[in-house]
Amino acid sequence: MLRAPTTRRRWFRTLAAAGMPALPAAPAVAQAGAARVRIRLSHVVARQTPKGLTLERFRENVQQASGGRIQVVIAPDSRLYGDTDEVQALRLGAVDMLAPSLSKFGAMGFPEFELFDLPFLFETREQVHRITQGEVGQALLAGLSHQELVGLGYLDNGFKHMSANRALLAPENFAGLRMRVQSSRVIAQQMRALGARPVVLAFGETRRALALGVVDGTENPVSNFWTQRMHEAQIDLSLTAHAWLGYAVVAHQRFWDHLAADDRRLVRQALGEALAWGNTIAQRENDGALAALRASGATRTHVLSEAQRQRLREAMQPVYAGLAQPTARWLDRVRSTLG
Ligand code: SIN
Repeated sequence: MLRAPTTRRRWFRTLAAAGMPALPAAPAVAQAGAARVRIRLSHVVARQTPKGLTLERFRENVQQASGGRIQVVIAPDSRLYGDTDEVQALRLGAVDMLAPSLSKFGAMGFPEFELFDLPFLFETREQVHRITQGEVGQALLAGLSHQELVGLGYLDNGFKHMSANRALLAPENFAGLRMRVQSSRVIAQQMRALGARPVVLAFGETRRALALGVVDGTENPVSNFWTQRMHEAQIDLSLTAHAWLGYAVVAHQRFWDHLAADDRRLVRQALGEALAWGNTIAQRENDGALAALRASGATRTHVLSEAQRQRLREAMQPVYAGLAQPTARWLDRVRSTLG
């Protein structure tokens, strides 16, 4: 259970670490006169990633558009909260906004978001955008209101690749491996379909678990792999591009309702611009991370042939058959949109 004084101290430490003045510790408060509003945002990845950079841009946009009246304070890299407790922190009002990966919404009570985890569902970023920016994506965001969440938009990272201390080019290479996964049933089933054992771990604990040998491998876009220094613990990265990693930015309804209508508009606009920008830099960030990884010489990268990808695709097909009914209905809508 999170207690307010502890939370307050943690935020003061974060503000100090970020070189920011300590502000009053009430949640997003609009005071009389020179009104000051503070938006507290927590996430689990490094600053130099598509998500980290986009949220920084959001912070700058808000700062500029409000003339400094509204301040966004960001705690990156699981510095304050990890995967599980960030959601609890949002519900308790210890943070105001989050940007979890779509894979983590299942554990929050929205399993339909796990359709984004389906292996080989998307082949291009453009296909992902047709879903996120279209009717299906918007309906999914609207459904978040069932748990007092306001879905504000989607953000790209990129296609995920498989890492371990061996090349993962064929289904048989996965036999017996303990693979760290996010808390998504679809991803867990994907690993089982390959003969691996899925182990759910918080993102912030993954690198250490790999280094200690608690798990043997994992999957992520290169931007996360590189900035978490997973290359120090993984000899091989196989460029499988088997599934997508994206995010949804959410606010708690209670916080949102406390904002003045004009501020809600300002925040939406600032975020909308940042997300559109973020979606243009995600590929670049992943390409840059791959180049840096290759230059480091720490991890071998393996490019799969189409035939090798096809074998992985076939091995992962049981995941579709095992899909729970509500998610399967959403999948039908995705397929009819993609044609
Ligand atoms: C993230 O990109 O937010 C984390 C992804 C993961 O947990 O693997």
